[in-house]
Amino acid sequence: MSICFNENEKIFTIQTKNSTYQMKVDMFDFLLHLYYGTKIENGNMDYLLPKADVGFSGTPWEAQDRTFSLDFLPQEFSSCGIGDYRINSINLIEENGCNAFEPRYVGHSIKKGVKEIKGMPYIYDENDNAETLEIYLKDNVTNLEVTLNYTVFYDMDIIARSTTFKNNSNNTVKLNKIMSATLDINHCDLQMIHFHGRHAMERNFERNNIPHGITSISSKRGTSSHHHNPSIILCENDTNENHGNCYGISLVYSGNFLIEVEREQFEQIRTNVGINPENFEYHINKGDVFETPQVLFTFSNNGFSKLSQNFHNAIRNNICRGKYKLERRPILINNWEATYFNFDDDKIIKIAKQASDLGIEMFVLDDGWFGKRDDDNSGLGDWFVNTNKIKIGLPKLVEEINKMGMKFGLWFEPEMISYDSDLYRKNPDWAVKIPNRNPNKSRNQLVLDMTREDVREYLFNRMTDILDSANIEYVKWDMNRSICDAFSALLPKDRQGEFYHRYVLGLYDLLEKLVSRYPDLLIEGCSGGGGRFDIAMMYYSPQIWCSDNTDAIERLSIQYGSSFIYPISTVGSHVSAIPNHQTGRTTSIDTRAVVAMSGSFGYEMDLNLISDEEKQKVKEQIKTYKELQPIIHNGLYYRLSQPEVDNYTAWQFVSKDKTETLLNVVVTKVCANKMYINIKLKGLDENKNYVVNDKIYAGSVLMNAGLIIKNPIGDYPSYQFHIKEYKN
Ligand code: DGJ
Repeated sequence: MSICFNENEKIFTIQTKNSTYQMKVDMFDFLLHLYYGTKIENGNMDYLLPKADVGFSGTPWEAQDRTFSLDFLPQEFSSCGIGDYRINSINLIEENGCNAFEPRYVGHSIKKGVKEIKGMPYIYDENDNAETLEIYLKDNVTNLEVTLNYTVFYDMDIIARSTTFKNNSNNTVKLNKIMSATLDINHCDLQMIHFHGRHAMERNFERNNIPHGITSISSKRGTSSHHHNPSIILCENDTNENHGNCYGISLVYSGNFLIEVEREQFEQIRTNVGINPENFEYHINKGDVFETPQVLFTFSNNGFSKLSQNFHNAIRNNICRGKYKLERRPILINNWEATYFNFDDDKIIKIAKQASDLGIEMFVLDDGWFGKRDDDNSGLGDWFVNTNKIKIGLPKLVEEINKMGMKFGLWFEPEMISYDSDLYRKNPDWAVKIPNRNPNKSRNQLVLDMTREDVREYLFNRMTDILDSANIEYVKWDMNRSICDAFSALLPKDRQGEFYHRYVLGLYDLLEKLVSRYPDLLIEGCSGGGGRFDIAMMYYSPQIWCSDNTDAIERLSIQYGSSFIYPISTVGSHVSAIPNHQTGRTTSIDTRAVVAMSGSFGYEMDLNLISDEEKQKVKEQIKTYKELQPIIHNGLYYRLSQPEVDNYTAWQFVSKDKTETLLNVVVTKVCANKMYINIKLKGLDENKNYVVNDKIYAGSVLMNAGLIIKNPIGDYPSYQFHIKEYKN
């Protein structure tokens, strides 16, 4: 049993393999948080609860004792409007205009299995390993209820949390904020790591002390965004890759989110995670329920490597679905950077032919194959093949490509509509815009109102029509603008505040229908690269185009930041042309491939334009990737350097049985007269021997004395060592 309730002490203890989570129902039935951290087999941590008569921190009415205050006690779900002045878990307005909510424990249940969340992605369990604790909290005055859900995966060290709100009152209430989870930590000091960025430079790692007051990261762009990822890591000051305590927190949601962290008057740290309350106002009628998205928590007392491995394992095995969840994905060639909008079927066939000659397994036709679409100003929504460009028609084109021995994939941007499109001319109210106000333009396109069933039905019909017309085995699902001007022509006035969340639910609904109809279809998520790189999208698309930045050197930082939470198999990554289209930088085809191989591998260039020597290298790279893919996708991942700090970036994969490892190194700043770089490997068996370049080293030697790379020279040299156990 990973969840246990001690009736006498009224203590809940959740155990995972390496962590313990504890909470207590106190004498007034408030649910207090006691501990989350390194595993403690038997312990009652209620002595940690702070007790003091504190000025300006009041006490609940029935408490005789002035040392009891909700203003500093750690809680599982904080109240609102009744004397906890820290960031709240909930904010609502009752029929009478008041905003009080006082959650008191009324019961709980412990069940086998996971918490399923209707209409939204959640962590699932195929092997009957999970247990779920539901704790029921009620406001006795209004009868409003929240259920706190904790799904526990013992072996994976994962606790998935979410909140269910139920309106058991006689009136409608307005929810202005409802967090998926609150975590109060008062037994240690913490720093915060988050992943910020911009288009074409996503998920930059940043680590800060947590100042007094509130620090937050969020999105109100309608997507999880390039700018902040819905994930943080809280860690102690001395935590590093191999050592120390850290908490990983990642929201399973693709829309507006908020992660707020407060250091309060006594240095205690409260973290809230959930849907962004800004632009959120949900009406919950009598008897209705509101489910929040889920948050995954993991704790590691062995530093960041273990934390990332926990997330990788859970996302790969219990979030990703479908045929390609664990299977190697086809090595693809995408025509975007090769042609942009300027192509016809002859050109496509030429690019595909060369790619197939070199061993590439799938051709992906990107933007521009439909409607009137010769640039990005028109055509979105008109999902009909443009026969001026694809003169032989799509079925014939796909047939030609299949004949070359390659699969075929196609780009869509389903959620968008161009002003200059037949769809907009016919259904202007399908676009998201506010009546009597000119909408904000972004890439000259508007967003389709995904809250509407008729819009989703149109998209489903158009997409299935195309997908059924030919042997299409992959879809790139793009989304190229942030959302604003939030308004749906079908929602009543008092429900417009529900737009953003309903949009995300609509998106999930359409994706679910497609993956159910085409269980073997590989969907690659994309939002101008990595603008919607979140766990929820991985439920539908086991790989996501990680960034529109294909420069190998910049990708080192982007892929480094992404690796803290997301499995390497989810990272769509391509070798592109030089000079690179985003940075103008030139790197060798070897270095470009070393970087792109740490992901779901492909090419994005016209391979007719490279030299014969490079073509030979591409052939070898394809062979190498096929050989290395199992360890890249299934091995344990270790970061061995920090891209912004070190002159080189190194990372490593280790097979679970430690008989094999893959070390990757890219030198990002070559220095004169530097004899060697020393790299200490991780995760090997210290008692095993390994062969590196025909020499034998003990695992303990490689991990402690390290491997040396002599005299790195040139522009961005790279190295790949596939090291195997030495057997006599
Ligand atoms: C943005 C994507 O990230 C690119 O790869 C490409 O598909 C373009 N959109 C097409 O418009």
